[in-house]
Amino acid sequence: MAAPKIAPSMLSSDFANLASEAERMVRLGADWLHMDIMCRHFVPNLTIGAPVIQSLRKHTKAYLDCHLMVTNPSDYVEPFGKAGASGFTFHIEVARDNWQELIQSIKSKGMRPGVSLRPGTPVEEVFPLVEAKNPVELVLVMTVEPGFGGQKFMPEMMDKVRTLRKKYPCLDIEVDGGLGPSTIDVAASAGANCIVAGSSIFGAADPGEVISVLRKSVEGSQNKS
Ligand code: DX5
Ligand code: ZN
Repeated sequence: MAAPKIAPSMLSSDFANLASEAERMVRLGADWLHMDIMCRHFVPNLTIGAPVIQSLRKHTKAYLDCHLMVTNPSDYVEPFGKAGASGFTFHIEVARDNWQELIQSIKSKGMRPGVSLRPGTPVEEVFPLVEAKNPVELVLVMTVEPGFGGQKFMPEMMDKVRTLRKKYPCLDIEVDGGLGPSTIDVAASAGANCIVAGSSIFGAADPGEVISVLRKSVEGSQNKS
């Protein structure tokens, strides 16, 4: 069984106080910190790059779960490895021709490779990456169109999660976008074990309580199955 991982999306944190926000999330029970790396070509937004990961790494030992919404992920592998990223998740839509080399280089820089897919991308596209001799170790199913926090969860994406969980009982399956106390049960019962949540955690009066609700839902679904 893949262990539950609750990953607050730091995109919703106060970027001017990133180190203390990271420390606060870890103290409140976060397993991973989800870092959204966006270039304006892949999504209509621009966020942070390797220099920020490098600065944050000096302040935390937490697992930095980097989600690269960029058109050329291979350009980012070396800088992110050096900066201290833990996970490196790229999008299949921009890696159809070079995912084998990409996975190899991510591992050679000491990071854990993952692949993500946009809502419009069929789940079958990631099967070869999970079944490869040198496989990805996480699949991130986007439950909103990537680009911004605070969007509405797309429940129709749960078919992808169910398909993946059925095929790969031990795989880390992550969901990202619109997750919170009102949507977690459907994602957890579909089989997601890594939960990214931005606005629902950072916008809550008691973020620690939200983290614990998310975790309990995943644990509850896993105990049933
Ligand atoms: C969207 C990002 C998400 C986002 C999630 O492109 O990948 O990680 O920050 O934020 P919420 O939980 O607010 O939808
Ligand atoms: Zn993300």
